[in-house]
Amino acid sequence: MKLDNRIAIVTGAAGGIGLAAARRLLQDGACVMLVGRHQDKLDTAMADLETEAAGRVATALCDVAREEMVAAAVDATTAKLGNWDIVVNNAGRMDFKRIEEQTADDWRGTLDVDLLGAFYFIKQAFLKMRRGGAVVNVSSIHAMETEPLVAPYAAAKAALLSLTRSASIEGKARGIRVNAVLPGAVDTPMLWDNPNVKSGAEVIDTADVGKPEDVAATIAFLVSDDAAFVNGATLNVDGGRLARL
Ligand SMILES: NC(=O)c1ccc[n+]([C@@H]2O[C@H](COP(=O)([O-])OP(=O)(O)OC[C@H]3O[C@@H](n4cnc5c(N)ncnc54)[C@H](O)[C@@H]3O)[C@@H](O)[C@H]2O)c1
Repeated sequence: MKLDNRIAIVTGAAGGIGLAAARRLLQDGACVMLVGRHQDKLDTAMADLETEAAGRVATALCDVAREEMVAAAVDATTAKLGNWDIVVNNAGRMDFKRIEEQTADDWRGTLDVDLLGAFYFIKQAFLKMRRGGAVVNVSSIHAMETEPLVAPYAAAKAALLSLTRSASIEGKARGIRVNAVLPGAVDTPMLWDNPNVKSGAEVIDTADVGKPEDVAATIAFLVSDDAAFVNGATLNVDGGRLARL
């Protein structure tokens, strides 16, 4: 299979897009470390995935906003699964507040997870990952077009594209590719819990709602050798929602 002998880390892997990405990478032959903040949810995800991929899944408790926990999760991956060569920076948070009500801590809280969390894993990749590795950063179409109440999220996801570009340049000499996906509306709690969606301020046509598996398939392509010449790319996975007037 395409990802035989590959070792992957997926952050925010207990549900939504992260769980779908973990499942898809396992189906394609990889071993996968599930990274998340809640051990009970990681255990449930692992039990589910192990029915299809016994012995190829492990978990690491890790707040991606804490660099020392990221380093420990990476070392746990090497110890439990072997030398890792894929990272999917999927963990994310989205908070809702008017700009005039936001504090610097609100901004730091979002940037710590949505931007620095990815930076910490990329840093570890550049320090420890073997050649031929691949990083996928899960950004958002909010990096390009956005809505009220989510300024820190939109800024973090836009900065994540900039980090993707920079890391793709510096990663090239190390044989590590770095790309980003920009999901549109995807059928996870993050979409339906969005107050803008609940209030009707953001209208979602169900024809524009994708499945976590749609994003997972794109991630699986980007980390595979089929994408060996794809580096520094940002790929919308939104069913064309962003392109329409
Ligand atoms: N669902 C959508 O419509 C949509 C659209 C665009 C982008 N995205 C992005 O896709 C990614 C996955 O989102 P999702 O829709 O699956 O929602 P989700 O809420 O199911 O997934 C987010 C995951 O990140 C984890 N997480 C949050 N903070 C963390 C931290 N500090 N350390 C470790 N894990 C942390 C959460 O526990 C959760 O498992 C996010 O980066 C999100 O911004 C989602």
